[in-house]
Amino acid sequence: MSAELVRRAREVMRNAHAPYSRFHVGAALEAADGRVFVGTNVESASYGLTICAERMALGAAVAAGAKQFTRIAVTTAVDPPAAPCGACRQLLAEFGLDLEVISAGPKSERRWTLGELLPAAFTRESLDT
Ligand code: THU
Repeated sequence: MSAELVRRAREVMRNAHAPYSRFHVGAALEAADGRVFVGTNVESASYGLTICAERMALGAAVAAGAKQFTRIAVTTAVDPPAAPCGACRQLLAEFGLDLEVISAGPKSERRWTLGELLPAAFTRESLDT
């Protein structure tokens, strides 16, 4: 149920390390086997090292052996809800463009497939000669 996935993202969003932007992001990525992996953004005094919540959740999932995903919920404190950045879209695309992406702000939600957010994606098939 997506409400539960959004709840998990909001819960972990509280742990974001974002002292520079103060923009807290939470992500909850659901694997095909039902497991849920969470992540937050982690910023650095060396700003460019910042890692987004979505990629942090994906890293946790892959490290735990998950490689098939159904949905990701991303939460922020803004409406309209913020969509995942381009870098996160690209890394998520590694595991399939059918992923459902749910972005939730305090008052509203937006949904897409990853394929809608990343048209004409560069994927492993792009490497085939
Ligand atoms: N951020 C994410 O965590 N995910 C996104 O998809 C967009 C941006 C973070 C990075 C940075 O810590 C803060 O939001 C402001 O850009």
